[in-house]
Amino acid sequence: MVRILFIDDDHQDQKLLKMILPENYAVISAVKGLHGVELIQKEEPDIVLLDIELPDINGLELLKRINALPLSPPVIMLTGCSEIDKVVRAIKMGASDYLTKPFKLEQLKRTIRDVMEEKIKESALIKLKTEDPPLNEIVGESTAIKDVKKLILLYADSESSVLITGESGTGKDVVARTIHNLSFRKGGPFVPKNCGAIPEALLETELFGSQKGAFTGAISRPGSFEMAKGGTLFLDEIGEMTPLSQVKLLRVLEDKTITRVGGTSVIPVDIRILTATNKDLKYECRRGNFRLDLFYRISTLSIKIPPLRERKEDISLLTAYFLKMLTGRNLDISISAMEKLIDYNWPGNIRELKNVLERAVLHSKKHTLDEGDIVFY
Ligand SMILES: Nc1ncnc2c1ncn2[C@@H]1O[C@H](COP(=O)(O)OP(=O)(O)OP(=O)(O)O)[C@@H](O)[C@H]1O
Ligand SMILES: [Mg+2]
Repeated sequence: MVRILFIDDDHQDQKLLKMILPENYAVISAVKGLHGVELIQKEEPDIVLLDIELPDINGLELLKRINALPLSPPVIMLTGCSEIDKVVRAIKMGASDYLTKPFKLEQLKRTIRDVMEEKIKESALIKLKTEDPPLNEIVGESTAIKDVKKLILLYADSESSVLITGESGTGKDVVARTIHNLSFRKGGPFVPKNCGAIPEALLETELFGSQKGAFTGAISRPGSFEMAKGGTLFLDEIGEMTPLSQVKLLRVLEDKTITRVGGTSVIPVDIRILTATNKDLKYECRRGNFRLDLFYRISTLSIKIPPLRERKEDISLLTAYFLKMLTGRNLDISISAMEKLIDYNWPGNIRELKNVLERAVLHSKKHTLDEGDIVFY
């Protein structure tokens, strides 16, 4: 239920809004601005629709007062079409969005949805700062990595699959683990399985397990799907899966059950699946290497981790973090060495940075890392 406070002096509009909005919206209304402020404190609405022209107080002035409240809800401004300069000022003053009257129901619903989504992300970020240590393991303050963290929080409690993409060494494993550690399933197992490293013939028994007598020497043993019960299965390098394995995985995702190789009983599996790849899966679908239906199944939610060269502002933080981790103290680094790290384009991303620093620490004889200690391969 989304609770909307509608501050507008037009009674016709008030009635209309109550009539057109579907049942999962509750509308509280105020015709006077100051009454609106009172209602915000008393009723704590999720969102405020505020007419820019009000009888008792200027809408912009009211916006200022609303934003000064301790738990100020997001505000959508309602304006006539000739008031564009006021709209610009309202947005600058912190309004979340605006609608020009007369607006269509679809527009209204879409705007409310967008603003609510933004609000959820923001409250997730506040939660992150106060009570979510797992996220601190993802080092970085760039906008790009902050967006990744917001998505992790937003997706953590969902049961849908998340496709994590990014170049090699960008932190896909780290992101998958963090999602698990923030989810309801954190008390259950986190089972990573690299689909690229296992030959096709083995992958099936690795994933599905086997039943005694299935083939010569076969023993009864659970596979990854069963081992991840109650937790999360992380299928890494999903782009390497052969067509046959893809079909089998699709079936598991659809039925939530498996059958061991050589077995007959159908075993229900309560798992959440996360996948990762450094390939462009859509492109692989077009080339016929990856099933489109499976792609849609696993990418309900997706997180793209940007390469390090696109968030160079994180390099100094990451460097400090790794140096501390590698040496147990705050080892100094010269300005020229830091510049060398920042100028480089990092094809191997964070893993490469970690390796470069590891070597630098080993070779360095002094208390400060110098340009000469930094060597790329
Ligand atoms: N934001 C980060 N903060 C701290 N450490 C990180 C971060 N991102 C990655 N790392 C570290 O960098 C290394 C590489 O990360 P990870 O293995 O998650 O990358 P990947 O994308 O899974 O790589 P690959 O494609 O090769 O599987 C790991 O040692 C990981 O701990
Ligand atoms: Mg990985």
